[in-house]
Amino acid sequence: MRVLVVGSGGREHALAWKIAQSPLVDRVLAAPGSDGIARDADCFPDVKAGDAPALVRLAHSEGADLVVIGPEAPLADGVADRLREAGLAVFGPSREGARLEASKAYARAFMARHGIPGARFAVFEDLERARAHVQSLDGPCVVKADGLAAGKGVMVCDDVRQAEAALAEIMAERRFGEAGARVLVEERLEGEEASYYAITDGRHIVTLAAAQDHKRALDGDRGENTGGMGAYSPAPVLTEAIEKRVLEEIVHPAVRGLADDGHPYQGVLYVGLMIDASGAPRVVEFNVRFGDPETQPLVVRMNGDIVPLLAGAARGDLDRAAPVGWGDAAVCVVLASGGYPRDYESGKPIAGLDAVARDTDVVVFHAGTRRVGGHFVTAGGRVLGVTARGATVAEARSRAYAAADRIRFEGVHLRRDIAARAVSP
Ligand code: AMP
Ligand code: GLY
Repeated sequence: MRVLVVGSGGREHALAWKIAQSPLVDRVLAAPGSDGIARDADCFPDVKAGDAPALVRLAHSEGADLVVIGPEAPLADGVADRLREAGLAVFGPSREGARLEASKAYARAFMARHGIPGARFAVFEDLERARAHVQSLDGPCVVKADGLAAGKGVMVCDDVRQAEAALAEIMAERRFGEAGARVLVEERLEGEEASYYAITDGRHIVTLAAAQDHKRALDGDRGENTGGMGAYSPAPVLTEAIEKRVLEEIVHPAVRGLADDGHPYQGVLYVGLMIDASGAPRVVEFNVRFGDPETQPLVVRMNGDIVPLLAGAARGDLDRAAPVGWGDAAVCVVLASGGYPRDYESGKPIAGLDAVARDTDVVVFHAGTRRVGGHFVTAGGRVLGVTARGATVAEARSRAYAAADRIRFEGVHLRRDIAARAVSP
């Protein structure tokens, strides 16, 4: 088989790396890919992830049997629909399915309609009304830009003052552009977060494992929300009993609801969960693609072949795919550019990659790098995802940090507490 991976980030590198190990696959292609992904796939840097006609041409000319779309933006733009119309097998939902992520207001309405537990919420297009609402709540809440904002358009607020500042930043200053034309003000859910992944062809469901990421920029979950500073799997908070509830109360109703609404879903449903003290799961968000950086520990932990799952979802025969197994644990530590998620500098030479590459329990996925001459330099906010496996989360964690500390570039920023909560003191 030939598999085309669409995207260029750390998640796409992790997918390409895992797909390349499949005995079914003789060639992995990536569009646009990256200099880091080029280790595991033939990259086509001129074919952008959002350019459906170019992707169709590439898939046909290279004979791709399966196209796996990594990021949310092309899905929200209907790229999967265009590729399916051209007769290609595609892993990734239609534009309608992708609205679950592309509009948080739509997602909350979908949950309410299908009885899926979430947060209480209100939607506003008018700044003064939104402000009056947070004043009436007079306590903690969460302010969110409705549209896509690269995982950064969510502000968790302790009080009215913070909520008003968040509203001003999103609605008046348009920090996230048009994504902030509409906002949600949500009940602030309390508990422990985890993300859960289910692959579906619209009818059948194969659940993967749970993972937990670290969205805030700084240790102790302080600082701004980022795309994710690290992740680990499994997530101990998701016990077998809670996982059963997640399936019954969330995953099955969502997949059924999408089909009943006329938008059968082919791809991965990423369920962002908050588990409260009683063990009740509620949805913080749905995403319509794999998590980044959660995919990095997931694929490093996964034993067996991911390709039958991806192809089964794309073709509609997921029930025939062999199940995958899971190794004990994996941890990913993100090395980011100083200043991320705000302004940062690029072009810093990266040292230490070769030394780390010799460790077979460690895989370094490239998120934002570029090759200049024979060397990699930084080229993004999140630069590398240093990922290690281990017999326990503790072992994987110390391996990941040992490797991360051997990699150096000017201004490197990393969190020191990735997976710390999953390690018994
Ligand atoms: P999202 O982009 O919707 O995943 O939000 C980013 C992060 O904000 C989540 O991972 C949570 O940590 C936090 N968050 C979002 N919505 C809520 C909520 N209703 N209650 C508490 N925390 C939330
Ligand atoms: N790590 C969070 C996300 O992929 O949305």
